Amino acid sequence: MSDQDRRARLIRALEYRQIFDDRLDRIERQVPFDSVHDVDTSESVELWELPQGDQLQVGRDARYSPTPVRTVRHVLGQCDVKHEDMTFVDVGCGKGRVLLQATEFPFRRIVGVEASETLCDIARANVEKASATLEGCDRIDVVHADATRFDVPDDAGLFYFYEPFSTEVSSAVLERIEDSVRRHPRPVVLCFTGRGQPDGQAGEHDTPPVAAAAAEIRPRWKRIGTVSSPDAVFYDSLLYAYEDHGSFEAQAVPDS
Ligand SMILES: C[S@@+](CC[C@H](N)C(=O)[O-])C[C@H]1O[C@@H](n2cnc3c(N)ncnc32)[C@H](O)[C@@H]1O
Repeated sequence: MSDQDRRARLIRALEYRQIFDDRLDRIERQVPFDSVHDVDTSESVELWELPQGDQLQVGRDARYSPTPVRTVRHVLGQCDVKHEDMTFVDVGCGKGRVLLQATEFPFRRIVGVEASETLCDIARANVEKASATLEGCDRIDVVHADATRFDVPDDAGLFYFYEPFSTEVSSAVLERIEDSVRRHPRPVVLCFTGRGQPDGQAGEHDTPPVAAAAAEIRPRWKRIGTVSSPDAVFYDSLLYAYEDHGSFEAQAVPDS
């Protein structure tokens, strides 16, 4: 590819990101979250904005951007799991919005894994502040770790991914989850939200769910449903279950 073509691609990608962020701003304004709980979760963070040494070894286009509030509430409500028996894990929790929203459900524990120390600090401060308005924040733990090396809790039953990284990294994470299920057999559901940040070369309908592709190619995971986002098609979710254990049929979620 010539330098000129490369420049043109970059410009299209930046333009697309602007369109994406403008839409997110509009969605965010519809359901205020930060002002209600006195937290900082809305503002996106580019990797280059993080301090030196806090740079992540991640796949393409990784950045912090929150899942819209209504999408999180809707998709977590659709996951037919036994909350009381399990830990919920947000893989790549960023500033911790999904963790805060997960307190609306009776999970035993709520864990966020985040590779950036800066984002972990923000997430912990958010949990602290939100505890004034949200019950259940004492169930939340924010763990500073690369998800590919994270010790998967033996009771973790629902894993949430909002396009945190590439298919390869996602595959390494799924391998750890599979090891954990082999050690401690239990029903496990994966929820992949988002289609991968479109790079401006393709429309978002054509942009594949990058992290979810790992579940498609690993034989143990079976897709059990699609959950439409109330915010935008970009935020639709794919749900997968580990096939050998638990009530696979009972957990199936109809397309919505
Ligand atoms: C798109 S944000 C999603 C944030 C949050 N889950 C939400 O939905 O609001 C993806 C996050 O994954 C984090 N991340 C990327 N690679 C990671 C890795 N290897 N281990 C842990 N976190 C990672 C990024 O720093 C970023 O905060």
